[in-house]
Amino acid sequence: MNDSPLTILILAAGKGTRMKSALPKVMHPLAGFPLLWHVRRTAEALLPDALVGVIGPEMAAVAAQLKPWPTVAQTERLGTGHAVQTGVAALPTGNTNGFTVVLYGDTPLLRADTIRAMLKRLRAMPDAALIVLGFPCPDPLPYGRLKTTNGQLDAIIEYADASPAEKALPLCNSGVMVFRQDALVRLLPMLDAANSKGEYYLTDTVRHARTLGMACLYAETDSTEVLGVNARAELAEVEGLLQARLRRQHMDNGVTLIDPASVQFAADTEIAADVLIEPHVFFGPGVSIGTNTTIKGFSHIEGATIGSGAVVGPFARLRPGTVLDADVRIGNFVETKAAHFGEGAKANHLSYLGDATIGAGSNIGAGTITCNYDGFRKARTTLGEGVFIGSNTALVAPVSIGDGAIIGAGSTITRDVPPDALAVSRADLRLQEQGAARFRNRKTREREGVQK
Ligand code: UD1
Ligand code: MG
Repeated sequence: MNDSPLTILILAAGKGTRMKSALPKVMHPLAGFPLLWHVRRTAEALLPDALVGVIGPEMAAVAAQLKPWPTVAQTERLGTGHAVQTGVAALPTGNTNGFTVVLYGDTPLLRADTIRAMLKRLRAMPDAALIVLGFPCPDPLPYGRLKTTNGQLDAIIEYADASPAEKALPLCNSGVMVFRQDALVRLLPMLDAANSKGEYYLTDTVRHARTLGMACLYAETDSTEVLGVNARAELAEVEGLLQARLRRQHMDNGVTLIDPASVQFAADTEIAADVLIEPHVFFGPGVSIGTNTTIKGFSHIEGATIGSGAVVGPFARLRPGTVLDADVRIGNFVETKAAHFGEGAKANHLSYLGDATIGAGSNIGAGTITCNYDGFRKARTTLGEGVFIGSNTALVAPVSIGDGAIIGAGSTITRDVPPDALAVSRADLRLQEQGAARFRNRKTREREGVQK
C-alpha cells in the first residue's frame, strides 16, 4: 500500500425490479459485456489498492464478475449510506489517510478521467471532506439536488424531500462521490433514516461535513456520462451512447465506417488503422482485426482474430476461436468456428468450417462442410498447405488432408488423404444420349392422354 491508498466501492445491491428480469440488473449486457464489467474496468483504470462490491444476497454471478476483488452482501437494502457502511466494514482497517471512491454498478458510461480530476481537486484541498459529481438536470427528474453557495457545496437534497424551490436547483447528484477516508469514517456513523424514504442517505454526509466545519466540493459533467440503467429503455439508450463513443474511437484510430450507425462494436473490439467496415456488421466480444482488412456488409463476428489484408463477407459468420492469418478470404454464407486459416487461404462461398486447421494457400470450394460432430464428440479436420477442396465436399472428422492434395467435387472424405493425392468419392456418371428428349416426349404424351 502507498501512503494514500485508494479504495473503490461499487454499489450494486439493487434488485433492478424495473428491468423485469431474472438476471441481476448489473449483469445485463452492454456492448457485449455486463454493465458491471464496464464499471469495474473504469475502476481498475484508477489503479485502486482495494475494491469492494456491495451486492445483494444470492447474487453469485455478480460476485463472480468482480473476482478476485471481494464483495460483501448487504442483506437489508437500507439505502446508499447503509450500503457504503456495509462496504467500508469489509475494508482493511488502519488506513485512514487515503481516499474512497463510491461508484454505482448501473452507471457504465462514467470515464476514469472524470474521477481522476475529482481526486486531484480533493487531494489539493486538505480541509475538504468530499467531492460530488453533479450534472445539469432539468426539473422534474427525481435526482438529488446540489445546494451550493459560491462554489461550495452545502447539502444534497433528495428529490423526495425537496421543496419546489430546491427541485428547481440546476445541478443534480450523479451518485459518484469521492471521500477523504478519515472524513468518511467520521461521517458514516452520523447518518440516520429520518427522511421521507426512511433510508440511510449517503448524500447526508455533505450536511454533516458542513456541520463539522469541513468543506465539500462538487464537479460537473454532462448528463449522458452518468446515465444510470434502471429499465430496458435506458439500457438501449446507454447502448446507443456507448456505440456512438466506440464508433468515434475507431474512426479516430483510422478505421473507415461507411455507415457508422449500422455497425455494432463490443467494448473490447480492437481494430488496426486502414480497415474498411461496410454497413451492418456486428462485433461480439473478443475480436481483433489487423490492418488493410475489409469487413463486408452483414457479417457477424465474435471471438475472432483477423490478420492483415483479409477480406471477410458479405454475410460471413466468424464464431469464437476463428483465427485468420494474413490475406485470408472468407466469403458469403461461410461460417467458421475454432478454425485456423493459414495465410492466403480462401473459403469464398457457402461453407461450414469448424474445429479445423486449414493450411496456407488452400482453397475451399463452395458448399464444403466439415462434419465435426457425430452427436457425441467434436473432432478436428486438418488440411495441409495448398490443398484444393472441390465444391460440395463433406470432410468427415477426424480427418486430415496432406499438402497439395486435391479433393474432387461432391466427395465425402472419410479417410486421411496423403500429400499430393487426388481423392474423389462419388457415384459414376450415367449418360443416356437423347434421354432428356425421350423423357419430355413421354411426359407430354401422358399429359395429352389425361386431357382427352
Ligand atoms: C441516488 C442518490 C441521488 C442521486 C441518484 C443518482 C442517495 C440517497 N441518493 O438516488 O441523490 O441523484 O442516486 O442516480 O444516495 N444501492 C445499494 N444498496 C442500497 C441502496 C442502493 O447497493 O441499500 C445501490 C443501488 O444498487 C444503485 C445505487 O446504490 O447502484 C443507487 O441506488 P438508488 O436506489 O438508485 O438511489 P436513488 O434513489 O436513485
Ligand atoms: Mg437510482
